[in-house]
Amino acid sequence: MKDSPAAPMPPESLRGLVKDVLVRRNVYLSAAAAAGSPLYVFEPEVLRRRAREFRETFAAVSPGVGVFYAVKSNNHPEVARTLAGAGLGLDVSSGEELKLALEAGAEEIVFSGPGKTESELSLAAARRDRVTVLLDSFGELERLHRAVSSGPPVRAGVRLTTDERALWAKFGIPFSGLAGFWKAAEAYPGIRLRGCQFHSSWNLEPGNHVACLEKLGRVLAGMEGRFLEAVEFVDIGGGFWPEEGEWLHRPDGGRVNPDNRDRDPLVHFHRPAVPIAVFAERIGEVFRKEILSRTAARLCLEPGRWICHPAMQILLRVEDRKAPDLVITDGGTNAVGWERYETDYFPVINLTRPGLSEFPCRVLGSLCTPHDVWGYSCHGREILPGDFLLIPRQGAYTYSLRQQFIKPLPRAVFL
Ligand SMILES: Cc1ncc(COP(=O)(O)O)c(C=O)c1O
Repeated sequence: MKDSPAAPMPPESLRGLVKDVLVRRNVYLSAAAAAGSPLYVFEPEVLRRRAREFRETFAAVSPGVGVFYAVKSNNHPEVARTLAGAGLGLDVSSGEELKLALEAGAEEIVFSGPGKTESELSLAAARRDRVTVLLDSFGELERLHRAVSSGPPVRAGVRLTTDERALWAKFGIPFSGLAGFWKAAEAYPGIRLRGCQFHSSWNLEPGNHVACLEKLGRVLAGMEGRFLEAVEFVDIGGGFWPEEGEWLHRPDGGRVNPDNRDRDPLVHFHRPAVPIAVFAERIGEVFRKEILSRTAARLCLEPGRWICHPAMQILLRVEDRKAPDLVITDGGTNAVGWERYETDYFPVINLTRPGLSEFPCRVLGSLCTPHDVWGYSCHGREILPGDFLLIPRQGAYTYSLRQQFIKPLPRAVFL
């Protein structure tokens, strides 16, 4: 579970990742020679492989499954184009993302998210040939009705909130509101309500997906027959953590105190995640029991992180070496838009002086803030000015959160 303490990380998994990166060392160094640094290094072949693996794994347990890549997890247009080209649908959460998805050529798009504006709803209605609107509230149902002019009805679903308390209450309506929502939608001939959606984040195992499907099963048991015949999809959102699990500096997932001299920068922690096949097996089983026993709905999913996490690396150059254990890189963490590496651990790998051993070294960016941290250790023989460093598996919730702050943003290259 997300909140359980992390365990010490098995050294083999880390060594395996460093070896995998070093096998491709010349590819990354050639990218730096051609494009300079800092760089976002995208690997479309990895995107295609992840898309295939995800879809095939779920199709094996639920034929006809619909997979919609969550654009917010990495919103580079080429990522959306690559995944649409690989046959995935796209999940968008704003008018901007919707335009990007249309331009990427996605044949099927789901548009979810709270507070859709009139112009966003109008765009979705205008592109009803490809878009399903996942409505967030009764008010939004009415606003969509106003945005639909003539023509065929707009296909819609309704988002159900996974937690009615606190901040997650901003998403969707309570499960218990489904019957009322169906009745309200029936009054609008321009809207065909054909399914429902929920989403939970940060799942290391399928417990949340299962609990929501069971809850939906109980709600469906009380729904009228006409609704059960009309339902075409149940979209269970994303939130699938990649199998390597979550890598952290501290067992509680907290921020490192760099003044704590007792902390060993070479000790890392992880919370393991189950393989995607385990998610699929369990979800498929519960979907059959709770949903397919009552409707002919198609299972839909919105993975983001699981698909794009391994498909982008960050490449930096050492600009200054102030001590053997203190270097400054040419890029700052505005490239990822948040202070990720104060809590999350990822290896910093020296491509120029490669080696499997890890040594303590504060690897800091060049922004005028002490929170501009890439890591507290480095893999390699040593570290000198001009060396190229790679931080692997930075594809999710980094590029989309980048911010223009002090230093220029990295360039993006596609291998
Ligand atoms: C509605 C919705 N679907 C899918 C996702 C993708 O989640 P993840 O990247 O964890 O798979 C998100 C992420 O916040 C989301 O809000």
